Amino acid sequence: MKGIYLTFLIAVVGFACGGGGQSKIDQIKEQSAMAPADPYASWESNHGVGPIKAFELPAEVDQILVTNGKEVYEAKCTACHKAEKRFIGPAPKDILSRRTPAWVMNMILNPEEMVQKDPMAKQLLIDYNGSPMANQNLTEEEARAVLEYFRTL
Ligand code: HEC
Repeated sequence: MKGIYLTFLIAVVGFACGGGGQSKIDQIKEQSAMAPADPYASWESNHGVGPIKAFELPAEVDQILVTNGKEVYEAKCTACHKAEKRFIGPAPKDILSRRTPAWVMNMILNPEEMVQKDPMAKQLLIDYNGSPMANQNLTEEEARAVLEYFRTL
């Protein structure tokens, strides 16, 4: 008797999980089939690929971070970037009006994977004639500080 119940239970649970899982996958498939061709049509929802997940900047600019970020930027970025002018790479001025904070940090920390997988980074590489953004091996703290500095440009 117990054996029968157990078999029944396994069958029910198995059916519920299998059935539920299946239909969820189908749902996702259906949704992605309906989604527009370019999932990053809006930069506002693109956080890039890398260690940094979507986050919001506090309203107030943190001046200590800015000072640290400026130092890092001047030491490791100005060979290719000018604040207000296109140089070897793009000008970071007003970057947060066209990129999300996480995207910018992922571009700094993980440029190799970004240019392979992120549609906007891929396009940048084309726009800059194939010259890639260099990984300067910043720590996450340094990248965060540079981002804060960019807010003041
Ligand atoms: C050897 C040159 C070089 C150095 C050094 C360099 N970059 Fe770049 N960077 C580029 C190029 C070229 C691009 C655009 C092409 C690409 O992304 O493939 C770029 C793109 C970027 C972007 C994306 C800009 C946009 O408008 O979307 C950010 C952000 C960035 N760099 C930040 C930095 C920071 C911060 C540093 C210093 C830690 C740095 N870069 C150092 C060459 C460089």
